[in-house]
Amino acid sequence: MRIGVFDSGVGGLTVMRSLYKSSLFSEIIYFGDTARVPYGSKDKNTIIRYSLEAVEFFKNFNIELLVVACNSVSASAIPQMREEANFPIIGVVEAGVLALKNSLVKIDDNILVIGTKTTISSNIYQRLLGDLGFCNIEAIETGLFVPIVEEGIFKGKVLDATMEYYFQNLKRHPKYIILGCTHFPLIASAIEEYFTKQGQKPILIHSGDAIMEYLKNIYPNLREQDTQTKFFASENPNKLKEIAKQWLNL
Ligand code: DGL
Repeated sequence: MRIGVFDSGVGGLTVMRSLYKSSLFSEIIYFGDTARVPYGSKDKNTIIRYSLEAVEFFKNFNIELLVVACNSVSASAIPQMREEANFPIIGVVEAGVLALKNSLVKIDDNILVIGTKTTISSNIYQRLLGDLGFCNIEAIETGLFVPIVEEGIFKGKVLDATMEYYFQNLKRHPKYIILGCTHFPLIASAIEEYFTKQGQKPILIHSGDAIMEYLKNIYPNLREQDTQTKFFASENPNKLKEIAKQWLNL
């Protein structure tokens, strides 16, 4: 099965890593819109416009499925993309919520959702979690993590100060943290350490692992095989390929 993976930048590589590691796809084609990242601070119509351009791009590759490895796009543009595409499209949000549901979570556990302005203000996580009955949900915009990750900073003073800025006024210590942006798994260790120092170690939910589980259920006939990869970026594709090489061990 040949699939496409789309993100605003390099963050979607965290999802691609899970897909690649599964060895269940014949080819994975990645496109990061690095010229226009971040998406998460832009308005919905702009994100829809950019995402429709990505759909056009993927029409050149005869893909059988497009994985939107971006929460901001998943929260804003999936219905519009589906209308234009000639292949199925799935986003990461439902997969993340399902992964939380399938963990040992209790209905009154403290859940923290972090994501971009677009994702958090869309209320999509809060709504889906609320529909499942979760009652202690705190959702905050942590958009500055995106350029920090794009800059290749995964630990250290800048990140520590940014975490302090965003997390110091949380109402409750989270037991579960949904990483509602595909850039955030790259700073998962730092986030885990931050909260562990303050008490209990939280359980982090990562969209990449979640989507792989989700896909195995939808496509039960996928078999192990060699996976070819192709990487495209709207700006500086060599940088993206370099990062992909490191993260995916290519
Ligand atoms: N990685 C993306 C997400 O999951 C977006 C980052 C951005 O472009 O703002 O939301």
